[in-house]
Amino acid sequence: MDRFWSWLPEILAALAGFVALRRLAAAIGRTADARARPALWALAAWIAVGLILTLSRAAHRWPGWAWLEWIRGTAPLAAGGVLFAHGLFALWRRSAACDPRRRSFLRIVAGAVASGPPAAVAFGILVERLGARRLVVEMPVPELPEDLEGLRIVQLTDIHLGPFLGARELAWAVAMANEFRPHLAVVTGDLISAGNGSLQACLAELARLRAEAGVLGCHGNHEIYAGAEALATRLGSRWGLCFLRQQSRLLRFGRAALNVAGVDYQRRGRPYLRDAAELVHPGAVNLLLSHNPDVFPVAARLGFQLVLAGHTHGGQVNVEILGEHLNIARFWTPFVYGLYVNQRALLFVSRGLGTVGIPLRLGAPPEIVCLRLRRAANTAAKRESDDRCAIWS
Ligand SMILES: [Fe+2]
Repeated sequence: MDRFWSWLPEILAALAGFVALRRLAAAIGRTADARARPALWALAAWIAVGLILTLSRAAHRWPGWAWLEWIRGTAPLAAGGVLFAHGLFALWRRSAACDPRRRSFLRIVAGAVASGPPAAVAFGILVERLGARRLVVEMPVPELPEDLEGLRIVQLTDIHLGPFLGARELAWAVAMANEFRPHLAVVTGDLISAGNGSLQACLAELARLRAEAGVLGCHGNHEIYAGAEALATRLGSRWGLCFLRQQSRLLRFGRAALNVAGVDYQRRGRPYLRDAAELVHPGAVNLLLSHNPDVFPVAARLGFQLVLAGHTHGGQVNVEILGEHLNIARFWTPFVYGLYVNQRALLFVSRGLGTVGIPLRLGAPPEIVCLRLRRAANTAAKRESDDRCAIWS
């Protein structure tokens, strides 16, 4: 089942590609305008190459050829554009049958509607994808020991270092994370997207994270797909980043103890957190690092007071309509983004930094998060955004 969900974006991209190619073939056969033909052929070639790269996952085999990944990642957007234009064109033709006043009104509306999605997609690719926010999240923990009051934990997740997010952007994120002067830094998985070509570069940048109690992490599903869990763990330990794989580490802050546990990516359809009860430390505040946020109810039952996760990218493309957030992640998890409370436990799901599949973020900007622990009795659960915002350039 987990495999199906991991393939869902590719399946949707392939479907859109096939349908768009059929529409383009019909348009090429129909058009009498010789100047339009080369543009239509170029569009068809773009989508076809993207489709082949998607189906074969061939782009991943040449990690140095970033432009192949860009063709693959933008082809579904081009296919979506073709289908959208086709729908609008059909409306346009239908409006020809209307009386002249109604026709001109319909065409003005169609023109306005036509410009919206392309502008939004361009904004998502060129601006929002690269605009990382610094976010401060207050974590109201019941019975938090006094010595943990105000503890700062910086979280980076879903970096997906590769063609859509380079080492330079990650270096910016690490520098911004260090500005929080964290007591602890955590990395909750998905360092890369596919293949382990970018793994070393990613870990080299993460090695610049500075935190009083060190840098701890857990692995994501993309480390599994790349077969890179063991290598990442080995390289990480060499550079000061300790990946916790069904392990825990007890950290002392004054007279208080924070027990940080980590698990590898927990696959859907299998029991979550098997044998993780032994990672809970009585007498300490227990924090679990799990890439998959779905473990939260089980983690709370086991005695973890805090869970930090990623994986969803906040939906990556998220449209808010009448207060409802529409995004693909909602199909497979109730924990898409933000702070969740379950009796005495708290979960924070970060949108992360990178993108997967398509080089686009919309309504879900990338973020660097600083979690501040507060005693629940005197702090309401709230999330506040730091005014500071950085645009990578
Ligand atoms: Fe991810």
